[in-house]
Amino acid sequence: MGLARALSPFVRRYWGHFLVGVICAIFSTAATAAIPQILGAVVDELNVRGVIFDDLLRYAGLLLAAAVFDGMMRYGLRRSIGGASYLIETDMREAMFRRLLTLEQAFYSENHTGDLMARVTNDLSAVRTFLGPGLFSLVGAVLLIVASAALMLARNALLAGLVLLLLPVTAVLFVVIGGRMRAIYRTVQDQFGEISTRAQENFSGIRTIKAYAQEAAEVREFRAANERYRASNVRYVLLSGLLWPLISVVLGAVGAMVLLVGGRFVAEGTMTVGDLVLFNVYLAQLGWPMIALGWTVDLYQQASASMVRISELLQRRPAIADPPDPPPPVPITGTIEFRDVGIRFQRSLAHAAAGAATAHDDRDWVLRHVSFSIPRGASLAIVGATGIGKTTLVNLLARVRDPDEGQVFVDGRDVREWPLAELRRAIGYVPQDTFLFSVPLKENVTFGRPDAEMAAVERALHISRLSNDLVQFPDGIETLIGERGVTLSGGQKQRTAIARAVLRDPAILVLDDALSSVDAHTAAEILAGLREVMRDRTSLIIAQRIATVKDADQIIVLHAGGIAEQGSHRDLLRADGLYAAMYRRELIQSEFEGEVGASH
Ligand SMILES: Nc1ncnc2c1ncn2[C@@H]1O[C@H](COP(=O)(O)OP(=O)(O)OP(=O)(O)O)[C@@H](O)[C@H]1O
Ligand SMILES: [Mg+2]
Repeated sequence: MGLARALSPFVRRYWGHFLVGVICAIFSTAATAAIPQILGAVVDELNVRGVIFDDLLRYAGLLLAAAVFDGMMRYGLRRSIGGASYLIETDMREAMFRRLLTLEQAFYSENHTGDLMARVTNDLSAVRTFLGPGLFSLVGAVLLIVASAALMLARNALLAGLVLLLLPVTAVLFVVIGGRMRAIYRTVQDQFGEISTRAQENFSGIRTIKAYAQEAAEVREFRAANERYRASNVRYVLLSGLLWPLISVVLGAVGAMVLLVGGRFVAEGTMTVGDLVLFNVYLAQLGWPMIALGWTVDLYQQASASMVRISELLQRRPAIADPPDPPPPVPITGTIEFRDVGIRFQRSLAHAAAGAATAHDDRDWVLRHVSFSIPRGASLAIVGATGIGKTTLVNLLARVRDPDEGQVFVDGRDVREWPLAELRRAIGYVPQDTFLFSVPLKENVTFGRPDAEMAAVERALHISRLSNDLVQFPDGIETLIGERGVTLSGGQKQRTAIARAVLRDPAILVLDDALSSVDAHTAAEILAGLREVMRDRTSLIIAQRIATVKDADQIIVLHAGGIAEQGSHRDLLRADGLYAAMYRRELIQSEFEGEVGASH
């Protein structure tokens, strides 16, 4: 049973709850099974001795006591097992969240956010429903069937045999229809993931959708996905809708047979009327457990399909993890070396998602044989055409991904041998596309250092020149940023990210095209401020503008899958290669813009 194995690490902790539940279920079953016995006895007594009020009162009291006791035990059963199911759900949700946060970026390019969300919500709740209502119904139903069977067999084996024919017939129904249901349910959940992804991407990309007036087209596509989801759901409901009525039919048929055969026994005098009543009440009582079994099968199918989706996530091992025996912590000072580094990517994401064998020839080299070193406190700038691999290259430093060839060293030690947290703590990273949380501006800035003093925050804001913009914000530094920073301008977002990185006071600062949305004048101011704080820190700057990179100690020009030129601004101009050409282009452009500006 795959489901049991997958669940056991989570369920094991709460075995006490389940034990209490089973004990309550046993008592509750005993009370339920006693009721037909009492009724049978009453009928026989009425037949033999006529109506005696005291006896009736006694039996009525017994029936009431059995019912009250049964109710109390059922409550205990629900409370213990139902409570445990929520505890298990909470643990599993946390385990999933924890795992999701340790997984590397590559995982997130293979999996859609909406689908991951569906696993954390919908699938989890399917598993919880099985563990709670599913399990307590199952335990109650099985116990009642077993107890009734035993008591009926003791009373009249032949008639009991007839009633118990019910079981194999329903079992066949469960197996045949249930298997089909599980397969469809997996489709249903996958489609739910697809719908969530679609909705989520639409909400995030609402600006683009509106700008291109694609609302109608998006609604059309959403409708199609929604319709597919409905169709699968209907197929599922049809099957489960078939299961329950079929069980009722079987139940009815058995009832008719009991009446025929039992009535005959009574007429022949081999059975009392009380026993016939007893059998009929048992049969009526068996209706609920049979339905419950059907329902549990339903829940079980859903839970196992969902648990597969959850396990896929929980069992995913992070490709980028701490070294097995990390060395004792030492502060990182910021010497960097890239030695013969090569990076390649899968040609298509579809390939990666399908987990295709990574044959060498189906991956393309983005960069190869890249070597350079940056002494502590120095600065290195990287320029190169768009898509050449600049972002990918600097991502190796904080191990967003690992190189496919060669090594990256920080302070002379391979980055793969540094504990991840320590390595990343030493790096202040301003990504190309800024991510801001929907919390106040201040919290966005102090994200990497929540305990920063106000003076440090103000200094960071000053260096990033965000301080100039604060007056425009309604609540200054306490202004709430809209989701993903939608209330800030592009340049304001970038400068918030710079302030965030500067505040961390890192040994290594990485700016990935972080001044692209900032005007040239402000960019120059920010760079001057950064040079001040970065005096004895190492910096890596990716940029498209010569002005941003020309003061770096070393400049690397990436071209055609490797380093084409390397040296200081002056060296590279003298060499009169790609960099010099780029410089001339920029000069002409700025002169042209200057003229245009002057003519206005
Ligand atoms: N996760 C990925 N899977 C597959 N290919 C990728 C992935 N990330 C980047 N690439 C490819 O690697 C190449 C380098 O991308 P990268 O983002 O490093 O370029 P870049 O030099 O930073 O460009 P830009 O100046 O536009 O930011 C590109 O061709 C890109 O398509
Ligand atoms: Mg880039």
